[in-house]
Amino acid sequence: MLTVAVTGATGAQGGATARSLLAAGHRVRALTRRPDSPAADTLRALGAEVRCADFDDRSSLDAALAGDSLFAVTAFEGGVDVEIRQGRTLVDAAAAARLGHVVLTSVAHADRDTGVPHYESKRVIEDHLRASGTPWTVIGPAAFMDNYTGGWTADGLRGGTFAWPMPAGRPLTLISSRDIGAFAALALGRRADFTGRRIDIASDERTPAEMTGILAAAMGRPVSYEEVPLAYVRSRSTDLAAMFSYFTTTGLDVDVAGLRREFPEVGWHGFDDWARSQDWASILAPEPAPPHH
Ligand SMILES: NC(=O)c1ccc[n+]([C@@H]2O[C@H](COP(=O)([O-])OP(=O)(O)OC[C@H]3O[C@@H](n4cnc5c(N)ncnc54)[C@H](OP(=O)(O)O)[C@@H]3O)[C@@H](O)[C@H]2O)c1
Repeated sequence: MLTVAVTGATGAQGGATARSLLAAGHRVRALTRRPDSPAADTLRALGAEVRCADFDDRSSLDAALAGDSLFAVTAFEGGVDVEIRQGRTLVDAAAAARLGHVVLTSVAHADRDTGVPHYESKRVIEDHLRASGTPWTVIGPAAFMDNYTGGWTADGLRGGTFAWPMPAGRPLTLISSRDIGAFAALALGRRADFTGRRIDIASDERTPAEMTGILAAAMGRPVSYEEVPLAYVRSRSTDLAAMFSYFTTTGLDVDVAGLRREFPEVGWHGFDDWARSQDWASILAPEPAPPHH
């Protein structure tokens, strides 16, 4: 049984990793900036110990990082410079705490010359981890299936449209946060097999046209595909536009069949498994009207 510090435990990847580790009988120390949030309460109810820590506060990381291993996630909401600074701080704190293993979740193809800003930032953090002297594993997840139940994709689906900035016939590799968590827990639990490895992960590859059909079947209502112009994405975020342009021109190839053969324990979920398991009634429920003043 290991004691694993899990960053991003209130979020998608860290939350799934914490659940998989707890289910396998390991001890989880869940790090969050808000130990009094409902997400932190849920982690406590599952058996995790919750600790307050902020990537911007090295002393909080020093106080929270103890035990055998760390699951490290980085946040890019503050932009790539912030992501790099915080990622380096986290790696330095893990090295100072002399942890036996760090499993860092980055992004698929971060080790190639993508030119995508939030992939290049992850590459810098990966390099920093490799140079830190701490035994490491890097996971590079493909595009998240979970993206389709939130934000502008969910807004579109409410109106019967799957809007995505790629040509309808161009395949994209995909993974659910649940499978990322299962894979990370496997890597943490089998340190000797995974140390020093960088592995891109995906559980399915689908075109937007195929995704549209799968979403319609799972939602039980008609859905049509609408290709969002890249120029529109660029007007909102040049970083995301660079990513979708990379998806369309180079493509995000990951060896889905090879991963399924090598790591059957993960119990990989295809896009149709994932879509069928979502609570579409609440995802598609109309957004509540803003309060009147
Ligand atoms: N969406 C995709 O398709 C995709 C694909 C590959 C990689 N990624 C990468 O995945 C990463 C995000 O992972 P996610 O989706 O699992 O996260 P998420 O669900 O967005 O949650 C973010 C987590 O990070 C924690 N966090 C943020 N800032 C922090 C800080 N200053 N100190 C401590 N904790 C902090 C939050 O914890 P608290 O708020 O509780 O403190 C929360 O648990 C990004 O780097 C993104 O580039 C995304």
